[in-house]
Amino acid sequence: MLDKIKKIKKKALTELEKINSLEILRDFEVKFLGKKGEITVLLKGMGKVPPENRKEVGQAVNGCKIEIRAKVEEKEEKIKEMIIEKDINRKDFDITLPSQPLPHKKGTIHPVVIIQNKVEAAFEQLGFKVLDYFEAEDDWHNFEGLNIPKDHPARDMQDTFWLKDGNLLRTHTSPGQLRAMHDYPPPFRAIFPGKVFRYEKTDASHEHTFHQVEGLMIDKNLSVANLIGIMKILLEAIFERKVDVRLRPGFFPFVEPGFELDIKCMNCNGKGCQVCKYSGWVELLPCGLVHPNVIRAGGLDPDEWSGWAFGLGLTRLAMMKYKISHITHFLGGDLRFYRQFTEGGLK
Ligand code: DAH
Repeated sequence: MLDKIKKIKKKALTELEKINSLEILRDFEVKFLGKKGEITVLLKGMGKVPPENRKEVGQAVNGCKIEIRAKVEEKEEKIKEMIIEKDINRKDFDITLPSQPLPHKKGTIHPVVIIQNKVEAAFEQLGFKVLDYFEAEDDWHNFEGLNIPKDHPARDMQDTFWLKDGNLLRTHTSPGQLRAMHDYPPPFRAIFPGKVFRYEKTDASHEHTFHQVEGLMIDKNLSVANLIGIMKILLEAIFERKVDVRLRPGFFPFVEPGFELDIKCMNCNGKGCQVCKYSGWVELLPCGLVHPNVIRAGGLDPDEWSGWAFGLGLTRLAMMKYKISHITHFLGGDLRFYRQFTEGGLK
């Protein structure tokens, strides 16, 4: 038996020596180490070996198997190296050429993020901080502290998703006004972009989740003129062209006076379409002077400090800028939509 093992081992090693392709190596493995391979058969035949020799024979077969397996692995490495070496030395192979493009596609920047980046850059130049506040808020920050008490009809227009603990998904970025007033000593100026949520029936311009950016400036003796001046700078920085705007009075419990700044619909150039509900104008930028009750709720004295604020629909802005006629594309998950946008925005 021991002789037989030696013979098989010698045969295996000699055959292995000559192998120079992975395919032949696989055949070799089957021949010796496979289920019915010569070495496996030896192992299976152990039962027939007389008990007194079993230990010695067993060790020999096992040792042979382990050695052959190690040599196979060694050979495999060698063959692979050989293949690479051969490739590198091919005359038509230029190792200095740039590599093939990766099979996966590079991601693109979401259109809302492109707009958000532009807004942030424009405001940072004007000395605004960019802050990030919570998407889940408490009732006080989202409503009460903003001069919207429990029975106020403004709550009906901003129904939202309530959490089991009595908190809610914020309906606007305005709660940041109260938080910023508590977080920073006056005077200061800041914007806070982010996601907001509404219990909303979806149509071309309404979604349950969308993006806003809130702006707040707190200083002494601020006026509507300050506000309008900055809004104009902002819109022209974003649209990179002259933008037609109109100002209407608007009511929001947390500002007094309050305004609606509309821009001429860029989807139809004022002619009327689905986006502007055939009016030619898109409500883009509600704003106003911060209500004294809100300044007080922010922990400041309204006789000493004044403020202006605005809430800009980032999603709506992206729709205008890129002429996107349906808001549901933004969260629709259709990659064909997202891939139209590049780092610099849609050209
Ligand atoms: N938070 C309001 C909304 O989402 C928008 C708003 C209006 C924000 C007037 C403001 C403001 O800061 O001054 O409907």
